[in-house]
Amino acid sequence: MDAKRFAIRTYGCQMNVHDSEKVATLLEDAGLDAAPGEAEADVLVINTCSIRDKAEHQLYSDLGKLRAWKDAKAGRVVGVAGCVAQQVGDKLLGRFDHVDFVFGTHNLRRVGEMLEAADSGTRAAWVGEDASPERFDLPMRRPEAPVGRRHRAFVTVMEGCDMFCSFCIVPSTRGREISRVATAIEAEVLSLAEQGIREVTLLGQTVNAYGRHDVRRGQAAAVGTMPFAELLARLDAIPGIERIRYTSPHPLFYDDELIRAHGELASLCPHVHLPVQSGSNRILEAMRRRYTRERYFEIVDALRTARPDVSITSDLIVGFPGETESDFEDTLDLVERAALVDSFSFKYSPRPGTKAAEMTDEVSPEVAQDRLERLQAKQKVQTLAYHARRVGEQALVFVDGESRRGDGQLSGRDPQHRVVNVDLAPGHRIVPGDALAVDLVEALPHCLIGVPIDPALRAPSPA
Ligand code: 5AD
Ligand code: SF4
Repeated sequence: MDAKRFAIRTYGCQMNVHDSEKVATLLEDAGLDAAPGEAEADVLVINTCSIRDKAEHQLYSDLGKLRAWKDAKAGRVVGVAGCVAQQVGDKLLGRFDHVDFVFGTHNLRRVGEMLEAADSGTRAAWVGEDASPERFDLPMRRPEAPVGRRHRAFVTVMEGCDMFCSFCIVPSTRGREISRVATAIEAEVLSLAEQGIREVTLLGQTVNAYGRHDVRRGQAAAVGTMPFAELLARLDAIPGIERIRYTSPHPLFYDDELIRAHGELASLCPHVHLPVQSGSNRILEAMRRRYTRERYFEIVDALRTARPDVSITSDLIVGFPGETESDFEDTLDLVERAALVDSFSFKYSPRPGTKAAEMTDEVSPEVAQDRLERLQAKQKVQTLAYHARRVGEQALVFVDGESRRGDGQLSGRDPQHRVVNVDLAPGHRIVPGDALAVDLVEALPHCLIGVPIDPALRAPSPA
């Protein structure tokens, strides 16, 4: 009999994307094959996100439609994973009788046994918290990763969050902060390098808090963790790893060592995605972010002093309860003063069980929408101006694949994590994963245009 085939639908952050990669490897280890698409799959796993209510509603809409998918072929199985699974747990089984199993963010390694149980008609939900370091012991990624990801990989270094920002549901979906043993991280990066990976993105909900609990308790050596800056230095020393990125850091955990690392470590990329959330000290306090706008500027300035070409990007929330026009203007002002190269901005969405959800001084949806649009308009101008300043520079682009234009134009990322699109000479041999040296010649709102420095690779100029 042919092997069963699986598909995974992923929502949310990079941690979720990486969790889906881990689930895929676990399913392959259990004898399944990846299906070309959901239509060909026997097993469908939905990896869910609950960061805003829109993301959570997506699951309920998906599940409604999946009844037909499941009925279309005998023996089909539906599993729900991720943050909504963690939160809603076995109630999902009660509410949707076509869901076969539910597994939370700490229980990825149960997927094989749950699938087996599902095949014999047993429905199950695994959503317990698992505080053991074995949680990280998952099978390694296989070399036959999707095209475009063969040269870069995610590596989990810590998970969970103990910050409890008042708007955020993550501490209840991802549980308590736990750092992975450094030797296990090094071994994974080493093995990735041997597979040809040249760029790693270290992942964690507050990634630069890595090791902090162990360090504070004087337990780091015993547990096998260390301050984040030291971990970076160890990984920087691994041959073959040319680019190291990390996401997402919290401003609270920048110390002199981490700033210095940005000036000293050759493979640490000149890009930091540093979520600030608001530019108003009053709102930052209500959000329980534990820093001021002044401190944020200090970190940004220190990073730029250590690494003058660093690009800073951020996450911003508008319409947090009690946010006045003047608070919002502080956010606009921060975007400018911190010279954010880009940002993701969101309308505040109340999440059940969080402190902010109890706050009553809501901002109306119309005002929040208006602020979001003004913020995004400002960012767009600023991003374009940044791209324009880069024109005339040279950049090394790691090619990911075809650009969105889809006519053979290639697309990749520069060290600052900007998208660079490049037209090439017909018959060129550049493939995803290659490093391509370009002159940056044109600035667009969402990307830069590069021209290969090697004349043999240049597309003929249009007649
Ligand atoms: N409402 C709106 N945005 C949120 N984020 C987190 N929680 C909420 C919420 N309740 C945003 C933050 C965070 C990003 C991942 O999502 O900006 O950095
Ligand atoms: Fe959420 Fe704050 Fe933790 Fe980030 S630091 S995951 S915003 S609680």
